[in-house]
Amino acid sequence: MKNHKSPHAVVLVVLFGLVMLLIIYNSNNRNEVFHYNTLRAKPSLPSSLKKWGVKNGYLPVSGNKTLDRHCHHCAIVTSSSHLLGSKLGATIDRSECTIRMNDAPTTGYAADVGNKTTFRVVAHSSIFRVLKRPQEFVNKTPETVLIFWGPPVRMQKVLIKVIQRVSVSFPNMSAFVASPSRMKQFDDLFRMETGKDRVSSRSWLSTGWFTMVIAVELCDSVHVYGMVPPNYCTQKPQPHKMPYHYYEPKSPDECATYIHNERSHKGNHHRFITEKRVFGKWASLYNITFSHPDWD
Ligand SMILES: *[C@@H]1O[C@H](CO)[C@@H](O)[C@H](O)[C@H]1NC(C)=O
Ligand SMILES: *[C@@H]1O[C@H](CO)[C@@H](O)[C@H](O)[C@H]1NC(C)=O
Ligand SMILES: *[C@@H]1O[C@H](CO)[C@@H](O)[C@H](O)[C@H]1NC(C)=O
Ligand SMILES: *[C@@H]1O[C@H](CO)[C@@H](O)[C@H](O)[C@H]1NC(C)=O
Repeated sequence: MKNHKSPHAVVLVVLFGLVMLLIIYNSNNRNEVFHYNTLRAKPSLPSSLKKWGVKNGYLPVSGNKTLDRHCHHCAIVTSSSHLLGSKLGATIDRSECTIRMNDAPTTGYAADVGNKTTFRVVAHSSIFRVLKRPQEFVNKTPETVLIFWGPPVRMQKVLIKVIQRVSVSFPNMSAFVASPSRMKQFDDLFRMETGKDRVSSRSWLSTGWFTMVIAVELCDSVHVYGMVPPNYCTQKPQPHKMPYHYYEPKSPDECATYIHNERSHKGNHHRFITEKRVFGKWASLYNITFSHPDWD
């Protein structure tokens, strides 16, 4: 048989192989993470965050759902101790939707931070702290939608399985994870807005960055409670020391944390102050208001 194979058939087989490769290559392009270098020259982002398209950016971790909530007005409740003693709880809860971060609890702090959670944006590093207390974070209100973000490799291997296991015990849990291509968009956005490459400048985007972008995607207008303006920590005289988290009285000073992270070039750090400068730029573009403290 071998000897009778015509050259014609060989050409066909080779062509078929090439076409298959092309199809595989193209389908990978759509779903997989690129190496950052390949696209460095031209981030292909829509001009407005509103046009990113929520539905394909967040994949359901369990069940058959799409993230299709939309809110006219959202409150982002930061985890900052600036909210302690503010008595803002009732005001915050009157917002159509409220967005909280990581393992910031409401139990015990409702008078200052409210007790309604529409969305909770959770970093890969906080997943265990959140899932360990399902009565507080997963099962407290039926409406809560959890949105997890993390490096695609780490998320896919272990963390998604952990989230899925918890969702077996809590079938009403509504959980999504930022897709690999959306994670890359978050990076491209940071580079486009700051001119800095997140990876080569050895920094990590903060949960605040993800939360702000998600809020702009999901909400027509956003009110941020408890976020200090970009120049707050470098003003003279220096502001009073404040714990970084309202729920951790012994957590390090907020400004010391911001300044240390902004200046550090060793290891992976968050560029909190750089991020806030970008938020300031977005304020008028996307109808974002900041209070406690106010931004001018
Ligand atoms: C998933 O949801 C879609 C749209 O709601 C529906 O058409 C489809 O049948 C569902 N699939 C499963 C397996 O439940
Ligand atoms: C929190 O929830 C309770 C019960 O649902 C409600 O009565 C209360 O007014 C809420 N808000 C605050 C700020 O505690
Ligand atoms: C889950 O949701 C359904 C329908 O909304 C409700 O009837 C049920 O009580 C909920 N289960 C839990 C454990 O909250
Ligand atoms: C911004 O949002 C506020 C509160 O939802 C609303 O009253 C105001 O009209 C909005 N402004 C613009 C320019 O859309």
